[in-house]
Amino acid sequence: MMKDDTSQFPTIATLVGKEVYLRPMESDDLKTTYGWFLVSDPQIQTCHQVTLTTPEEMAARNKKREQSSDRGDFIMAQKEDHKMVGKLSYFHLNMLNRSAELGYIVAPGDRSRGYAKEGMWLLIRYLFKQLNLNKVYAQTASFNKASIALLESLDFKLDGTLRQHHYYNGDLYDDLLYSLLRFESSF
Ligand SMILES: CC(C)(COP(=O)(O)OP(=O)(O)OC[C@H]1O[C@@H](n2cnc3c(N)ncnc32)[C@H](O)[C@@H]1OP(=O)(O)O)[C@@H](O)C(=O)NCCC(=O)NCCS
Repeated sequence: MMKDDTSQFPTIATLVGKEVYLRPMESDDLKTTYGWFLVSDPQIQTCHQVTLTTPEEMAARNKKREQSSDRGDFIMAQKEDHKMVGKLSYFHLNMLNRSAELGYIVAPGDRSRGYAKEGMWLLIRYLFKQLNLNKVYAQTASFNKASIALLESLDFKLDGTLRQHHYYNGDLYDDLLYSLLRFESSF
């Protein structure tokens, strides 16, 4: 394959990195991504109360989400063999403020290989350059070391702290709000 031949990758061919590419998520992907969410201790990943549902209920909920225009869900896959290794999303898209919130998960067996960093970089570049956003942001639990390290490695800055905002395992923890402004990025 020639280096710049992106024809074998799905529609959003511009979102192709060195090791991974991003493609729009399809309903069939949900079983896999929901499985990652379940085995990754869901309540670590969100401050909202997690009520575990069946994959079918989850699929119905997702159908509604698919129709909303303020979000985009992407599967991150390895270029080499198209294996799914993560899911990256933007949501709360606000074209007035030109901002969106980001969510991210990597398959438990594929972490610490630089995939989230590369995939997030592709997504952020898309949001800044194609959608002309000015700001992307993320909310994470203060005890979620991997998530904080990922955001800081992408040069996100700490906007503020939501004190005692996140219940986990019998205690209340702070949540942190991080953001990256377009002028601070290399895009
Ligand atoms: C957060 C998550 C997406 C990171 O994915 P990943 O592919 O392992 O991250 P990467 O390998 O791209 O690493 C990115 C940076 O974070 C650092 N990092 C990753 N995991 C880390 C950990 N457990 N502890 C400390 N640093 C970590 C890496 O060293 C790297 O920094 P560097 O570029 O300065 O070396 C992954 O741990 C995950 O899916 N967690 C569960 C879902 C979740 O918590 N999502 C966030 C909800 S707010």
